[in-house]
Amino acid sequence: MMDTEGRLIIVSNRLPFRSEERGGGPLLVKSSGGLVSSIGSFLHRRLGEGAGTATGRRPIWVGATDMRARRAGKPGEGAAAAGLFEVSPVILPDATKDRHYNGFSNDTLWPLFHYFPSLARYEEEWFTHYRTANRLFFDALAKVIGPGDRVWVHDYHLMLLPSLLRGAFPDLPIAFFLHIPFPSYEVFRLLPALWRRELLEGMLGADLVGMQTHDHVQYFLKSVQQLLGLELDLRTVMGRSRSTVVDAFPVSIDPERFRRAFDDHAVVAEKNQLRKNMAGRRLVLSVDRLDYTKGILQRLQGYEHLLDTRPDLAGKVSYLLQIVPSRDAITKYKELKERIEATVGRINGRFGSVDWQPVIHQYRSVDHRRLCALYQAADVALIAPLRDGMNLVAKEYVAARKDKRGVLILSETAGAANELGGALIINPTDRAAVADALSQALAMPAEEQSARMAEMQERLARYDVVRWAEDQFHQLDGAVALRRRLQVKEITTDARKTLLASYRTATRRWLFLDHDGTLVPFTKLPADALPGDKLRSLLERLLSDPCNSIAVVSGRDRGTLGAWYERLPIHLVAEHGAYLRSPEGQWTWTSVRTDWMGPVNALFQQFQDRCPGSLVEQKTTAIAWHYRGAAPDLGFMRSRELMNVLNDMARSFDFQIIEGNKVIEVRPMGIDKGSAVRQLLASRPAGFVLAIGDDRTDEDLFKALPPGAFSIKVGIPPSHARYCIRGPEDVSALLAALVDRPVNTSLKSP
Ligand code: UDP
Ligand code: G6P
Repeated sequence: MMDTEGRLIIVSNRLPFRSEERGGGPLLVKSSGGLVSSIGSFLHRRLGEGAGTATGRRPIWVGATDMRARRAGKPGEGAAAAGLFEVSPVILPDATKDRHYNGFSNDTLWPLFHYFPSLARYEEEWFTHYRTANRLFFDALAKVIGPGDRVWVHDYHLMLLPSLLRGAFPDLPIAFFLHIPFPSYEVFRLLPALWRRELLEGMLGADLVGMQTHDHVQYFLKSVQQLLGLELDLRTVMGRSRSTVVDAFPVSIDPERFRRAFDDHAVVAEKNQLRKNMAGRRLVLSVDRLDYTKGILQRLQGYEHLLDTRPDLAGKVSYLLQIVPSRDAITKYKELKERIEATVGRINGRFGSVDWQPVIHQYRSVDHRRLCALYQAADVALIAPLRDGMNLVAKEYVAARKDKRGVLILSETAGAANELGGALIINPTDRAAVADALSQALAMPAEEQSARMAEMQERLARYDVVRWAEDQFHQLDGAVALRRRLQVKEITTDARKTLLASYRTATRRWLFLDHDGTLVPFTKLPADALPGDKLRSLLERLLSDPCNSIAVVSGRDRGTLGAWYERLPIHLVAEHGAYLRSPEGQWTWTSVRTDWMGPVNALFQQFQDRCPGSLVEQKTTAIAWHYRGAAPDLGFMRSRELMNVLNDMARSFDFQIIEGNKVIEVRPMGIDKGSAVRQLLASRPAGFVLAIGDDRTDEDLFKALPPGAFSIKVGIPPSHARYCIRGPEDVSALLAALVDRPVNTSLKSP
């Protein structure tokens, strides 16, 4: 990605370093937290190796700055990185910065997404400032983005940014990565309707949305389906005007950086000093930002339980609780700090002695050297968050143990638990389980420690931070290509001329035409959408040319379709391809399993009763539930419920569920418009093929066409069709132009 002409533009709320007031004035120090660690170490690795500097242009990191009035500081640790990439600070007004960061981001989204719904506050004013902050990021970016650039947006502070960018840069490659968990649908829907919609649509402005785990991907997709009513094609969201690919990319570290530190003299000296201070005691370590999601209190209680139940450990073990200051303007964080101090005081008071401190509590950030020394000195790392998107500390501890010693205890609720199978996995709220795991870890034989470490180190070596980033860039390329393919263009005057010229020179032609929404407009009642006299006479004129074959390709049942087009010598494809009628009136069909029809019919009847204005259409091989006639809100809500139940039923039955325009249809597997059309094309090859349709089911038709065919989607993209057209009226005009005199191409241009 960095070798291309354009630049990589990284956007996050937090910049890699911040300004800290220390004795002699402001100093630039490395920011804390997993986001900065991961992106920072990726850039170090790639740029340190020379990529991007020799052939490509330097990446830019855009982020909010806390440097008041741009008072620059002297560089401290981490600031050296600024030479490798450019930094573009975004200055937010104080009120916006506060309501965006301390308010909506960290007091609404953070607790909610980490499954602390009772802590989440819903303040209209905060969301307004959240919008403003995203807009100011957009304004800053708009000045920076140049041809060939790609933008990589990070985390929950900037969920509206992708769609703002998309509005102004329709073809810009955009990736979005969420570092924190995406919660289950039931939790996400606690957000007010307008906000949750805006957040989802905001993220869907990206070509690629990345999450930490497959569970988060599933939860996100479910929210998109349930709340926006959008369709999925596996993990691709078919949005209202473009597609977005969603996938899991577990964030990682640069393991080599921690491994190397094992032989670094300064680190070794610091580790030795630490061990000396421990005077032979075993060391349990944890490193966390101050955060209620990290389960620090619960963990202390687990440790207390260990001391209660294992009096033999008195004086033989100490727990070093390293806490990195974080978000201290938020009340909950301040309260937590006080409660931690009180708990540490209580434990030390209960168990400690003049020469033994059971818990050593340090409240400050540490530099890389100190961090590595801590990792190397610790016999056990107790990483027990209540909920964590990933948890990089767990990965760093493993990578730092070149000696393959030490034991990792890890919560099952941290994203890292999916990858680090060699850890002792615990439930962080279970005190006895925490105490048991500590006992087990302290007694674990060296060979077992080594085997567990080796397994985890192998995984880290395979999937490091470079793989994490580059997998996303690779998938972004694919997602952009897919978006471009699906981004069909409104049919232009030139394209119409080409189509007409090709029609006129061909001696055999096929016209595949969908019925509802294509040949005729939608009606409130499906039974009213019959073909009118104008349409019939248009089809007759087309049929008067012996070169033409016409097929109406529809999801309608064969009875209705047969009656509507009774005397017209055209092919009919009914029920999405289950039934075919020849121009002579002969029906043929494919036999299919229908054992699901009874239960699905009963379910649909229930939904018809629960949603006034909706109705069930019973076909021979399929059943459809139409809700065009229902109140829009109720219809939409019930349609989401019905999709939910049908998705569950699909595990036991062999059927497919198709969402159309205000209709949900269930039909047998293996039948679609594409297979029917392939059959017709094989029976009569043609030099000119035109297919027009409006619906999800017509995508199968478009995909089945030979190269060179003209395919037109009625409505807006995304679609596999080559062109799009506005509505049934324009379809009629186009068809009329085919039978007009060659000189007359008097179609309205778009
Ligand atoms: N870390 C830090 N400053 C410190 C101690 C640790 O920046 O004083 C780093 C640590 O090395 C790790 C990151 O902060 O890379 C914490 O990431 P994690 O995913 O564990 O949690 P987060 O803080 O992002 O919730
Ligand atoms: C988590 C978030 C990051 C954030 C970091 C530190 O890792 O996912 O976006 O930067 O915590 O928090 P802070 O509020 O200091 O940026």
